[in-house]
Amino acid sequence: MAKLTINDIDLRGKRVLARVDYNVPMAEQDGMMVINDDTRIRATLPTLRLMIERGARITLAAHLGRPKGERVPSMSLRPVADKLAGLIGQPVAFCDRCVGQAAEDAAAKLEDGGLLLLENVRYHAEEEANDPAFAGQLAKGTDIFVNDAFGAAHRAHASTVGVANLIAARGGQCVAGLLMERELQFLGDELESPERPFVVILGGAKVSDKIKVIDRLLEKADTILIGGAMAYTFKLAKGLTVGKSLVEPDKVDVARAALDKAAERGVQFLIPTDNIIAEPTEIDGKFAFGDHRVNDSENIPVDFEGVDIGPKSAEVFRGVVAGARTILWNGPMGIFEDERFAGGTFAVAKSVCEATANGAKSIIGGGDSVKALNNAGLGDQVTFMSTGGGASLEFLEGKALPGVAALTDK
Ligand code: 3PG
Repeated sequence: MAKLTINDIDLRGKRVLARVDYNVPMAEQDGMMVINDDTRIRATLPTLRLMIERGARITLAAHLGRPKGERVPSMSLRPVADKLAGLIGQPVAFCDRCVGQAAEDAAAKLEDGGLLLLENVRYHAEEEANDPAFAGQLAKGTDIFVNDAFGAAHRAHASTVGVANLIAARGGQCVAGLLMERELQFLGDELESPERPFVVILGGAKVSDKIKVIDRLLEKADTILIGGAMAYTFKLAKGLTVGKSLVEPDKVDVARAALDKAAERGVQFLIPTDNIIAEPTEIDGKFAFGDHRVNDSENIPVDFEGVDIGPKSAEVFRGVVAGARTILWNGPMGIFEDERFAGGTFAVAKSVCEATANGAKSIIGGGDSVKALNNAGLGDQVTFMSTGGGASLEFLEGKALPGVAALTDK
């Protein structure tokens, strides 16, 4: 790793400001906000445990949701402090301010190995504006900046980039946490020279969201398997009919160019040859799907929408995945939130786990594929699940992440 990590530095008695990504899904229950999925909190535990063990005094900064500079009570990080305390087995102080006297006093009270979580940094508009004065307040009294927030590393905000620049300018060290290090290893180094065959499975709604990733991975992969609604834009590019499926007509040229590039480079590029289809209807302004069935044809009938890959395609994908040594999966194969259309995504999840059990390295590129694996109870049966959503995609596109760039070089 080209950047310093917490393993490279002395932490004892040091005041550490650690940026974490605790942007976790929450829902209201009996008037309280309850965390639905604590994966991102758990993912930081190795970093926190190491820092505690080495006697650092740790202040955690994080965002939750997009409150746009307002104190939105449902986006408070207070429930996260309680959750974290339970997971790590020690008290976690919470300060309902992230800057100012109260936050400074709370940080000053920390003993070696102590933990403090600050309130949502996005309650201040200056966070997203990467305001230097706000970054200065956040960084006040800090010896070392640790960034473990891979999921927010694509944002050049005050708590990701601003503080790093300030601390570096005064000679302090800015280092990666263990989660950040693992994310960069699996989504970066491991895919740079993957063991072959290297199979990439991409799904999701839009070609436009994934085209840069597709373009880059066409230079690396042996096979690319496409599912999700974006497959229908590829069907259009191949001259097939798509009925009422979700498509991006203005991206047909882009899809065709990707197909051409795959052919030129000898990359196997597969889109589903059968699908689950359903008839979309609008009742009282709400969308519903009726009459769902398997469509054993590459073409989608006029009044129908493709909502999942079909059983034959799932079987073909399984065969390809079974032969892989390295697998990257990002994006669901259909509308998996509706259990009628979840079969393709879960079949792929199972195939990836089977291949992993047979020795393949499987890397799950964050977002909905992680959700699908967790829903199926298979989250622990893959090699690595990214905690990033947008950050994973930007990193896979080959973009430099500002939060990483701001860390100290080795
Ligand atoms: C995420 O959930 O992907 C990260 O926490 C970043 O959140 P954002 O898209 O609101 O910046």
